[in-house]
Amino acid sequence: MKRILITGAGSGLGKELALSYCRLGHNVILLGRTRSKLEIVKNKIQQSRGKVEVAICNISSEVDVQKTVDELLTEGNIDLLINNAGVGYFGPLQNYQLPQINEMIDTNIKGTIYLSKALLPHFLKQNRGKIMNIISTAGQKGKVNESVYVASKFAIRGFTESLVKELEQTPIIVTAVYMGGMDTPFWANTNHIKDQSRLKNPKEIAKIILENDHNQNEIFIN
Ligand SMILES: NC(=O)c1ccc[n+]([C@@H]2O[C@H](COP(=O)([O-])OP(=O)(O)OC[C@H]3O[C@@H](n4cnc5c(N)ncnc54)[C@H](OP(=O)(O)O)[C@@H]3O)[C@@H](O)[C@H]2O)c1
Repeated sequence: MKRILITGAGSGLGKELALSYCRLGHNVILLGRTRSKLEIVKNKIQQSRGKVEVAICNISSEVDVQKTVDELLTEGNIDLLINNAGVGYFGPLQNYQLPQINEMIDTNIKGTIYLSKALLPHFLKQNRGKIMNIISTAGQKGKVNESVYVASKFAIRGFTESLVKELEQTPIIVTAVYMGGMDTPFWANTNHIKDQSRLKNPKEIAKIILENDHNQNEIFIN
């Protein structure tokens, strides 16, 4: 049984990953900024007798991340970190607002780096651990009206590939996950996607991730 920290676990893919790992008997820590969303997922897991914790944390704050990780480690070891939380704003570059650019960079890139950096010493000390970074096909190729989002995902691809090499001689596993569009609240405030209901169900993607996770460094989901 593993203790798994999942960022952005109050909705979408993070929620489905949490439910799926719990069904397999693992303990999950649901991390996000909005307590009410995390509590709904927590209640659902508890109804099926799963073990679950909630951590309120803004991953774009290094101080908040370090404090959260320190607190969680006083309660026990962590075996797997899933860097799933992410935000997206879309449109022609000239139309982006500065706060939107900053939020994507601060959440998608810095948040992933902060959490990985905060947990890596623990993983190295316990001589086991795994980091799974949820990227996107936006980390594989450029897309129209997605320039900054794509830039943030390319950054995490580079970060992940580098960590794989850096940790090659250790038992720590680092995995990048690339998937296409999912029908989640991610698209709630944009008309970039015409009909999000045609996208894949995040439950399906979570299932594929669990089924295909054999400690390799990349998982591609069409
Ligand atoms: N949906 C797609 O089509 C798609 C496709 C490929 C890849 N992805 C990637 O999949 C991941 C999950 O996205 P999703 O589709 O499941 O979207 P989602 O439902 O919007 O989930 C993202 C979660 O991240 C949390 N979050 C955002 N900013 C945060 C911050 N600063 N600190 C902590 N938590 C934060 C949000 O909760 P709070 O706001 O409550 O904190 C939210 O629950 C993202 O990395 C996304 O880029 C999505």
